Amino acid sequence: MIVEESLARTRDYIRQWRRDGSRIGLVPTMGYFHAGHCALMKKARERADRVVVSLFVNPTQFGPSEDFSQYPRDMEGDCEKARLSGVDLLFCPRADEIYDRQDQTAVTVSELTKGLCGASRPGHFRGVTTVVSKLFNIVQPDFAVFGEKDYQQLAVIKRMVADLHIPVQVIGHPTVREPDGLAMSSRNVYLSEPERQAALVLHKALQTVRQEASRPDGSRRTAELVAIGRQMIASEPLCRLDYFSVVDGSSLQEHEEITAGARALGAMIVGSRVRLIDNLELLPG
Ligand code: PAJ
Repeated sequence: MIVEESLARTRDYIRQWRRDGSRIGLVPTMGYFHAGHCALMKKARERADRVVVSLFVNPTQFGPSEDFSQYPRDMEGDCEKARLSGVDLLFCPRADEIYDRQDQTAVTVSELTKGLCGASRPGHFRGVTTVVSKLFNIVQPDFAVFGEKDYQQLAVIKRMVADLHIPVQVIGHPTVREPDGLAMSSRNVYLSEPERQAALVLHKALQTVRQEASRPDGSRRTAELVAIGRQMIASEPLCRLDYFSVVDGSSLQEHEEITAGARALGAMIVGSRVRLIDNLELLPG
């Protein structure tokens, strides 16, 4: 596996692979790999001749009071996990190569970023779409794999690629979970044992709402389903609700009654600082 920091040398490798007729897959990440990241890499491995993983903790997607400087890092462990997942090139650029101080260009997706995480993290998705556009332009992959764990992010990137006619196929991958259901996240490492137990409430709330929505005589009313989820999270003293919503799986709009493809999405802060998100499809799309 090649580990490369330089943008120019990364382009050289890729130019060569293209010349050889290779199909190239990209998995953009911020590192501190867990089984969720590795599953994305393995999916890319199955579909590509060359797999590129970018590892870049993107400063522009963190708000001023968020955890950019404390974001967990483990370069050695990440190299080993990427290698074992069949990655050909781990691209770890420096921030000053990705962003020029003179940058005047950013990419924004307007409607899909208004609610959910976009409402609680102003500027977050602008940072994500801008860096992902840059990575797509550097690597020029045939396809890129993103996790459904960040469901709004996946929807926003699909929209960006369609709107800007970017020739990259965006492939989603289901959320990878711990045996007890907790969605894997680089931020889980910051949970104390009691917080780790409390954090399960988000997945439990999503499951309870799904059970209710799929029962023949269960509620299909968004307001009732949302109330169930919010109440469950509110009852967990170590967790503070950010949002719990039930929306259409493609427009991310809330409707009075749910239809096929509806999704429940939630975000909460565990303890004093760890923000976790999760989501579940309520009715088959
Ligand atoms: P990061 O949080 O490192 O996630 C990298 C990719 O792994 C994303 O597509 C994310 O959805 C996926 N992922 C994370 N946890 C997962 C899980 N439990 N199951 C399945 N997939 C999971 O998302 C980002 O980085 C950044 O915003 C990025 C797209 C790299 C732009 O900076």
